Amino acid sequence: MSSKDKLRKFRENETFACLFQPKTEGVLGKPYSLRGKWGKEIFGNDNPITLELGCGKGEYTIALAQKFPDRNFIGIDIKGARLWKGAKFATENKMGNVLFIRTRIEFITSLFAEGEISEIWITFPDPQLKRPRKRLTGTMFLERYRQFLAPDGIINLKTDSKYLHNYTLALARQNGLDILEANNDIYGSGRADEILSIKTFYEAHYIKRGLEITYLAFRPENGKPLIEPEWDEEYWEIEEAKGRENTPANKG
Ligand SMILES: C[S@@+](CC[C@H](N)C(=O)[O-])C[C@H]1O[C@@H](n2cnc3c(N)ncnc32)[C@H](O)[C@@H]1O
Repeated sequence: MSSKDKLRKFRENETFACLFQPKTEGVLGKPYSLRGKWGKEIFGNDNPITLELGCGKGEYTIALAQKFPDRNFIGIDIKGARLWKGAKFATENKMGNVLFIRTRIEFITSLFAEGEISEIWITFPDPQLKRPRKRLTGTMFLERYRQFLAPDGIINLKTDSKYLHNYTLALARQNGLDILEANNDIYGSGRADEILSIKTFYEAHYIKRGLEITYLAFRPENGKPLIEPEWDEEYWEIEEAKGRENTPANKG
């Protein structure tokens, strides 16, 4: 994408009523002005709210919002040119149950109040092999999500990364979290129903390369502090590299 194209999208982003772009000083170390008010004041109802973290172009947010008109959906990402796609679609299609927020997920607890969110989707995040503190399913982020997720709230993780899937599964097991489902090949196993077969931009690319897509659903709350898992990190790092080398696309 040319920088001219990006600038055009950034300018158009300013016109979308469904796209919020908080300034850093509005979220850094203090509650954002709309914290606790997304339902009644912005969506205009009390329907449950689902978040998509690192939503990119917002495919899950949009598709889920179309399937569940009685629920609200918020996609979050830092990249404005990607959010533009989802925000433009929601605007043109007059979708009343979709919002996007351009911000860093690091500021997430400034945005939402206790119990304000009922479910989270994390779609194809960077597995952050070398930086566990940046991992969106690591203990640091999970402790933050716990602060605003309803007590029985669910986290859904969809990824092409066996490393991230197995790390998150080990974390959930070792912390005694309620694991609702763990599937290491949703298409090969026939598990991909109309929800799980919604395809994001990155997912379509990974499928083309022949990578298997995994799914994990769990409840992060159990009233105890979370600990990082002890797991075979090295083994999964090697498996991850092998998996990527051995895709049909790489084998030619
Ligand atoms: C690999 S892409 C996946 C995008 C989309 N979910 C998909 O599947 O097509 C990861 C996305 O997460 C966003 N992201 C990563 N770390 C973030 C952070 N700390 N705060 C906000 N967005 C972040 C990136 O901007 C990027 O759009």
